[in-house]
Amino acid sequence: KPVVSSSSRLHCPASGIVLSSSLNVNSSVMFPDVKLELKARSIDMGSSTLICHTEAWQDLKAHVEDINRTHLRHLMSDNERCKSMMVEFDGMMLDYSRQRATDETMDKLFKLAEVAHLKENITSMYNGDHINKTENRSVLHVALRAPRDSVIRCDGKNVVPDVWKVLDQIHDFSEKVRNSSWVGVTGKTLKDVISIGIGGSYLGPLFVHTALQTDPEAIECAGSRQLRFLANVDPVDVARNITGLNPETTLVVVVSKTFTTAETMLNARTLREWISTALGPAAVSKHMVAVSTNLTLVEKFGIDPNNAFAFWDWVGGRYSVCSAVGMLPLSLQYGFPVVEKFLRGASSIDQHFYSAPFQKNLPVLLGLLSVWNVSFLGYPTRAILPYSQALEKFAPHIQQVSMESNGKGVSIDGVPLPFEAGEVDFGEPGTNGQHSFYQLIHQGRVIPCDFIGVVKSQQPVWLKGELVTNHDELMSNFFAQPDALAYGKTPEELQKENVPQHLVPHKTFIGNRPSLSLLLPSLNAYNIGQLLAIYEHRIAVEGFTWGVNSFDQWGVELGKSLASQVRKQLHESHTKGEPVKGFNFSTTIMLNKYLEEFSD
Ligand code: F6P
Repeated sequence: KPVVSSSSRLHCPASGIVLSSSLNVNSSVMFPDVKLELKARSIDMGSSTLICHTEAWQDLKAHVEDINRTHLRHLMSDNERCKSMMVEFDGMMLDYSRQRATDETMDKLFKLAEVAHLKENITSMYNGDHINKTENRSVLHVALRAPRDSVIRCDGKNVVPDVWKVLDQIHDFSEKVRNSSWVGVTGKTLKDVISIGIGGSYLGPLFVHTALQTDPEAIECAGSRQLRFLANVDPVDVARNITGLNPETTLVVVVSKTFTTAETMLNARTLREWISTALGPAAVSKHMVAVSTNLTLVEKFGIDPNNAFAFWDWVGGRYSVCSAVGMLPLSLQYGFPVVEKFLRGASSIDQHFYSAPFQKNLPVLLGLLSVWNVSFLGYPTRAILPYSQALEKFAPHIQQVSMESNGKGVSIDGVPLPFEAGEVDFGEPGTNGQHSFYQLIHQGRVIPCDFIGVVKSQQPVWLKGELVTNHDELMSNFFAQPDALAYGKTPEELQKENVPQHLVPHKTFIGNRPSLSLLLPSLNAYNIGQLLAIYEHRIAVEGFTWGVNSFDQWGVELGKSLASQVRKQLHESHTKGEPVKGFNFSTTIMLNKYLEEFSD
């Protein structure tokens, strides 16, 4: 039986096992036996391979005390330190001087990267090794944006020609649709596209589309065309998507890596019905195309395999934006030259990530700082705050890439992790977020923030006669917020301002809250590609360092299989009028309530 020896330590005298504060102590207290069992198993299963048992990790743990003795206000007064924490690459500038870190911290993080074999892991990824061990797959999204003449091998085969074959197919098809040489069954131009997909088959393309939508070059290329995304199985989402569209002028792209995802297939059947009811079943071949790795199921669904765009199992769903998943709908909307520019931006970061020294490597720096914040300083959350309305869908995309990749409980070798991996990502564009959750960020919990700013607005600025333009106004906030978080405001400063004493505690800002700032020169297709690749690789750096498999997602399966049991029961209740059975008390009551209200 465990003994609670302090609020953050559990000690089992019989086995001598001590659960330290690095464990999730709350759940240890609630389920001590479970945690002890996990801990004991992790010892049996070779926990010595875990990164937390290295000297480099322990060294960083001890270093937290040094950092706790200082304040960002103090750290920011060292110009040399700040200078060493500013990195430029390909028009972008990263400033991480407002991280609770010193040059010594960075050296220790680079040491951690070394013992985590980060360089070797990155090389393995680019070499096409099966680093996604639990699915025995390569992880080669970098091949999706590699220049045509490059060589990237998967199982001995150069995959770049295959990638470009599909890109050429996308180019050709999207041109035909855009110039009306491919038309709908009644001879009308297909001017609108609905892309059906969910998760990785939706969030990335939506982010890129939203970001391009206000870019002048993209606007000109899009003309009056519309691109919409249908993801949710909720009939409300179907209604939103088809409202105002005419099946005669609509092309539906069904995007699903597996072509089995319940929501996507149901939505695909729904829009097939919408098209065939209006135009007859034969119209499907002209109005529906697909993107998938499973071309057999595409054909079975009734989509002509000639109208299918392939990708490969070495592309993870959430890393698939640069495959036909994103490139087909975006090329239909904006034309191929725009998507090619986007791919070039991503590729520039791929080369940088592969070859730049870690001290100057944007994704590596960002990834290691995340590990520092999550695993050492104990900040599990990160806010992604683009000061650009065009990036409003960036945080939701990164939320999936990050949380589905690194939200893991065991190491890549299956050893339970005695530390928390993964981070909770959320975000909103500034300044909107400032009027929503920034209160908590400034005076409540500590949440490391990523501020993303753009030098040149996509759109013309207004009110030039005023003190500042509206873009300057936006950017004033981008520059001010990181300092407000870092420096805070002391009671002494408030007293000097004659703030009434009873308000001083309420108006005090402790500060010392970490953030980093990324400044992009502009927001065109190229920069959007850069931004995507920086975050994709950052997440991989975190996963490699924690020693988890960032490329599988077994955690989504249990919910899916339970939903299928419920689905079966709902069907039987609807058709046979039988009450639901086989569920626990609470679910049975809720389900019966749903069925009762439904039949009313
Ligand atoms: O449920 C999670 C997930 O498997 C994601 O990883 C994936 O991007 C999404 O579902 C959609 O899968 P698919 O592209 O196979 O329809």
